[in-house]
Amino acid sequence: MSPLLHMIRTRSALRPISRVGAALVAALALVVLPGCSKLHQVFSLSGPQSTMVTEGPVARAQWDLFMVTVYVTMFIFVVVGAVLAYAQIKFRAKSEADEHAEAAAEAGHGNPFVEIGLIAGSVALLVIIAIPTLKDIWYTHDVPQVDVDSGNSMDVTATGYQWWFKFEYNSEMVKLPTGGEAPLVTGNELVVPAGVAVRVHLRTIDVIHSFWIPKLAGKVDMMPNRANHLWFKADKPGYFYGQCAEYCGESHAIMKFRVIALSPSDYAKWLENQKNSARTATAQTLAAEAKVPHVSFASLKGMGPGSTFAGSPEFDANPFAAWQKLQSPDAGESAAQIAAGRKLFQDKTCITCHTVRGHEGIGITGPDLTHLGSRSTIAAGVLENTPERLHQWIKDPLYFKPGNKMYNGGYIDVESGDHKFTLTDTEIDSIVAYLRSLK
Ligand code: CUA
Repeated sequence: MSPLLHMIRTRSALRPISRVGAALVAALALVVLPGCSKLHQVFSLSGPQSTMVTEGPVARAQWDLFMVTVYVTMFIFVVVGAVLAYAQIKFRAKSEADEHAEAAAEAGHGNPFVEIGLIAGSVALLVIIAIPTLKDIWYTHDVPQVDVDSGNSMDVTATGYQWWFKFEYNSEMVKLPTGGEAPLVTGNELVVPAGVAVRVHLRTIDVIHSFWIPKLAGKVDMMPNRANHLWFKADKPGYFYGQCAEYCGESHAIMKFRVIALSPSDYAKWLENQKNSARTATAQTLAAEAKVPHVSFASLKGMGPGSTFAGSPEFDANPFAAWQKLQSPDAGESAAQIAAGRKLFQDKTCITCHTVRGHEGIGITGPDLTHLGSRSTIAAGVLENTPERLHQWIKDPLYFKPGNKMYNGGYIDVESGDHKFTLTDTEIDSIVAYLRSLK
């Protein structure tokens, strides 16, 4: 007798366990099968990057397909588990003699009816999984024709960089300071109209990244020399988390982004502002702006807690209100400080990597900063966009995002081994004031 078979046949301790196991399987099936909503509450599976909370048709299709496979595999688990439990109980060693008995000399040949039945049953289960799988492959591949025909779709291009995302609005052209036109560019925050199908063309400038908005759609790789795409639609206005889902180097885990879905009319309002060149805050413009009411987004009204941000308590409590606040200039802006910051932004060569449309910045290595002040996060979704965080980020970006290409504002002193910064805190404060003024 093989050692394994011997162990199985003589392990009398298994007897009570198999009964407990069968009871557990039954109990688990009773809990899981009626639906997973209870599980959400019990295990807190509704976090900001949970795929179990679907807020758009693509994510819903992916979730439903997942549940089909869960139900099928649960069914297999219960059936096989029940047969196993039955066999263990029925054929257990009942006496001393049983425990030392040799295996039967001849194994049974098997029952053709059972064998064919098992094959047919397996095929049937695979077909049950295959039908919705194929349906969803087609559905998630591209924007439904009905949305295309009714003009209810738009195209954006998302490009992965180590480690941030560039978003281009393909059909929203803006005038370039250098002459000509180009699509509107934003960084790390993709604002879209709710209810509109968004086709995202996926590109990368360096290595392979992967584009994923857990509650809306995902995930598709951004491959060098390959034109991938996906689409998504947000059911209603909301604030969603996105994440690079393919290992792409040191700071892969903190290569994040946000999707902010607005009502179509609010989106139009946002778009109009974004297409403007960078805001120039002088003493005169600040005085003039103080007289006009600040922009407001009706679709964000009444949005309460729900999407945690892991930022300040204010942001956690209501990311929409906090985001909306950022669309208007900060209170107490100083035109002199902003002007000083703008000059430092040139002198310290920030302009060679960042575009500030209408101002001096023309670089394309880093994110477009034309409207940085209106974004809720900096450093690709890692830090909340507050003056304090912006200060810390500019002072030592490598601390927050190891390996990133941003000039780290400092050097290691050979004598002392200390990290010295080439920008003084006062200079950084001026740059922060300038960047925050870019609404
Ligand atoms: Cu980009 Cu991981």
